[in-house]
Amino acid sequence: MDFWDVVRGRRSIRAYDDRAVDEELVLKIISAARWAPSGGNCQPWRFYAVFDPVKREALVQCTFNSNLPGHPPQAWLREAPVLILVCMDRRKTTQRYDRWGREYLAPQDCAAAVENMLLAAVALGLGGCWVGGLNMWDASEEFDLPAHLEPFCVVAVGYPKEVPGPRPRLDLDEIYTRI
Ligand SMILES: Cc1cc2nc3c(=O)[nH]c(=O)nc-3n(C[C@H](O)[C@H](O)[C@H](O)COP(=O)(O)O)c2cc1C
Repeated sequence: MDFWDVVRGRRSIRAYDDRAVDEELVLKIISAARWAPSGGNCQPWRFYAVFDPVKREALVQCTFNSNLPGHPPQAWLREAPVLILVCMDRRKTTQRYDRWGREYLAPQDCAAAVENMLLAAVALGLGGCWVGGLNMWDASEEFDLPAHLEPFCVVAVGYPKEVPGPRPRLDLDEIYTRI
């Protein structure tokens, strides 16, 4: 697919059909994440692809609506055949860049990886959605994650049942300044 078709065609998909997603495709999505840039090439990302329906439901229970902790889980996630839990490992970024690495670089690195994943999903004929409404402490406990791995977000992946129209974007002149 043409680069601009992928970028402009990406939507947050919140309705999926029943088709399962092959693990091979999920691995391609993770491969796209691997190629994201990261500060000092620390690559502070780890990925758990949750296919198992019981574990998926457990992960849905760790999410909340309206980006407000304490709100009910995001029920639409139950339609997604695979949920990828993206985790952040701040150890290396901290060793190398101290507080700067811990607080600023690691989240930027993981965000770059997630965007690559969403674009890869489109290029593979799939759809996805970035889910930041995640109680990271609950997810950490549920998946028995080692202390150095912090849940960063969930990426839902599946075959789109509905592709929404584009959400509005700010105009270039609202966001661009030439100096
Ligand atoms: C950091 C971040 C957190 C997000 N969290 C959620 C979420 O918890 N649930 C959800 O349905 N969408 C979530 N989204 C998707 C946004 O709502 C979506 O990207 C935005 O409305 C623009 O729509 P588009 O992605 O279709 O262009 C999130 C996106 C980002 C970048």
